Amino acid sequence: MKDVIVLGGLNMDLIVETPRLAGPGETAEGTRFYTTPGGKGGNQAVAAARLAQSPGSVKMVGRIGDDGFGEEMAQFMRNEGIDTSFLRRTSGIASGIAVIFILGDGENHVNPVYGANGLCDEQQSDDVAGALTNAGVLLCQQEIPLSATRAAIDAAAKAGILVILDPAPVRAVPDGFYDPVTILTPNQGEASSLAGIDVVDAGTAKSAARSIRDTGIETVIVTLGDQGAWVESDGVSELLDPFDVNVVATVAAGDAFNGGLGAGLASGMDLLDAARLGMAAGAICVSRDGAQEAMPSRSEAEALMAGR
Ligand code: RIB
Repeated sequence: MKDVIVLGGLNMDLIVETPRLAGPGETAEGTRFYTTPGGKGGNQAVAAARLAQSPGSVKMVGRIGDDGFGEEMAQFMRNEGIDTSFLRRTSGIASGIAVIFILGDGENHVNPVYGANGLCDEQQSDDVAGALTNAGVLLCQQEIPLSATRAAIDAAAKAGILVILDPAPVRAVPDGFYDPVTILTPNQGEASSLAGIDVVDAGTAKSAARSIRDTGIETVIVTLGDQGAWVESDGVSELLDPFDVNVVATVAAGDAFNGGLGAGLASGMDLLDAARLGMAAGAICVSRDGAQEAMPSRSEAEALMAGR
């Protein structure tokens, strides 16, 4: 098992379950509130750690503030066997948070305030470079400053490490930003925005994946929720079927996918098997409450795949 390095955001998720969102100037009562450690980077790290089952092989690089939320998130990761020695605490700023509304059908609306995540800089790209010795995969997203992410990607690519980038949330990126990325994993909305094609099904996902891949990225995987995932790579162009589960909340589904994909590849799986592991992780994640807490163990993911 090679190491999985995760560079990205950590947010304490403040989750409100409500039948509907309030309109302007209106008050609409919710039904439940809870907090759960989240953030796309943190979620991917926990997913990878639970699926890799190799304590210390997942390393989290990022920033938290000097508040209770930051300590709670760091402790949660340590309990998962994640190496947090590159998780830097910054004084005088709050840790990232995300207010998340979950509606009756499990769909979610996410409003983050990135706090300490926004201070990620060359310290984090240097930390990634320093963590690459036994690395197999670098996982990144777009919740921290793009300059830090790009410098880390460059360091990993120069060392021959496979780079997976989840282009979430959607952001305008400089020309050529994705050039050194090995695998880009947009969801429907992100693929639509990147390719300029309205992605609604497998056919349009294929067109979008091909168009994005034509820009020079080795592999593009468009995740389609309950329609599966389209994988476009050298000699591979196929839809992976979804797993059938009862949807409770779709928060962090993409993070579960990326964590599973990264853990699978770092453990030596081929692309399609690693993507299937990611899809199983995403399916189990949406069948549960929470973000990091919703990530499945390896045995849970294997049981879902075996039961197909
Ligand atoms: O991808 C889900 C995550 O996005 C949530 O945990 C929230 O923190 C936001 O960053």
